[in-house]
Amino acid sequence: MSELPTLNAPHLTEADPEIATAVREEMQRQRDGLELIASENYTSAAVLEAAGTVFTNKYAEGYPGRRYYGGCEVTDVVENLARDRAKELFGAEHANVQPHAGSQANMAVFSSVLKPGDTFLAMDLAHGGHLTHGMHLNFSGQLYNAVHYGVREDDHRIDFDQVAALAKEHKPKLILAGASAYPREIEHGKFAEIAKEIGALFMVDMAHYSGLVAAKVHDDPVAVADFVTTTTHKTLRGPRSGIIMSREPFAKDVDKAVFPGMQGGPLVHVMAAKAVCFREAMQPSFKDYALQVIANAKALAETLTAGGVRISSGGTDNHLMLCDMTSIDLTGKIAEKALDAAGITVNKNMIPYDQRKPLDPSGIRLGTPALTTRGMKEAEMQNVGGWILEVLKHADDEATITRVRGEIAEFCLDYPVPGIG
Ligand SMILES: Cc1ncc(COP(=O)(O)O)c(C=O)c1O
Repeated sequence: MSELPTLNAPHLTEADPEIATAVREEMQRQRDGLELIASENYTSAAVLEAAGTVFTNKYAEGYPGRRYYGGCEVTDVVENLARDRAKELFGAEHANVQPHAGSQANMAVFSSVLKPGDTFLAMDLAHGGHLTHGMHLNFSGQLYNAVHYGVREDDHRIDFDQVAALAKEHKPKLILAGASAYPREIEHGKFAEIAKEIGALFMVDMAHYSGLVAAKVHDDPVAVADFVTTTTHKTLRGPRSGIIMSREPFAKDVDKAVFPGMQGGPLVHVMAAKAVCFREAMQPSFKDYALQVIANAKALAETLTAGGVRISSGGTDNHLMLCDMTSIDLTGKIAEKALDAAGITVNKNMIPYDQRKPLDPSGIRLGTPALTTRGMKEAEMQNVGGWILEVLKHADDEATITRVRGEIAEFCLDYPVPGIG
């Protein structure tokens, strides 16, 4: 077992040794393992520091210049910086940087334009959509009438004929593009055209690929959508949170939907960390990062394909891939568990037209944002793919798993995680 990393937090260490130890154990886990969860990343040390500031003490209900609490002068500076940077980064007319997370961002947009019972059209969860895109147990499926499109059975790409047909049939008030598990570039313009034809509003949830959009290496939704939401902690590499962007005419209603509609005070320390993240994403080095994320995903997908794993849609254009474990006689659940034991973190996932159930699906989802942040490139993806194949092919062999775990921990030492000294 490797040593626990040092935690540079003397007050926490003295005041609460149990939590301090848990933090050190999590630092160790993040340092010694391969993080392949497509929705995770490692923020910079600067983002971590901003999130750990005294702004956590501040209440700031309202918006800059219009607060319900005193003492908000510097909070206003932070929120304005975050808003202006978000607008500049994505070329948006309006930005609201207060949503606590991606789900809240989506909820606020829905409530700003839909009434309970209204119809919206979005991607099916079983084909790569998100819970907040109308899953029956989620607020979005309970409050509204969600109609779902999916991907074609033969090539696992979005079926635009189906999108157009469902739009004509159901006349949704809102069409939503964006996904949690779709490995191909989303053609926002095609959705925008369909929405225009039927007079629907068009929203994009770019939570997964917003870092690629910021770096201008993915089709841009902001230019064609009425609303764009995103989380800030995935490819964008910021703190855990969300934001909304919209066209100017919707700005007031969006702001009202966030506060007082849905949230109380914003998390000012997290808004500060978001501002830092947006600044980082404007740097030329972020474009290099985003290009490398994609190159790494392609390299990993090729290595796995060569090893006999079937990849949904035959590959990837972005940061993630869906691997069909039944192609090597496993299930997603067994694969996730074996990989986890070897220090490779992934999540089990439905693949389109899955014959199995969500808690025991056929696939696993892999993504390269976090490993790319550690400085890994295509050559390292071949090592990573090799370990994945080895573990999957010996999923019940403890000796192989233990050996691979050790090899990975050793390998990881050469690729530092920001914020872990
Ligand atoms: C497409 C999409 N939208 C929204 C969310 C929700 O984000 P959060 O977990 O921050 O609420 C996610 C999270 O995985 C997502 O993938």
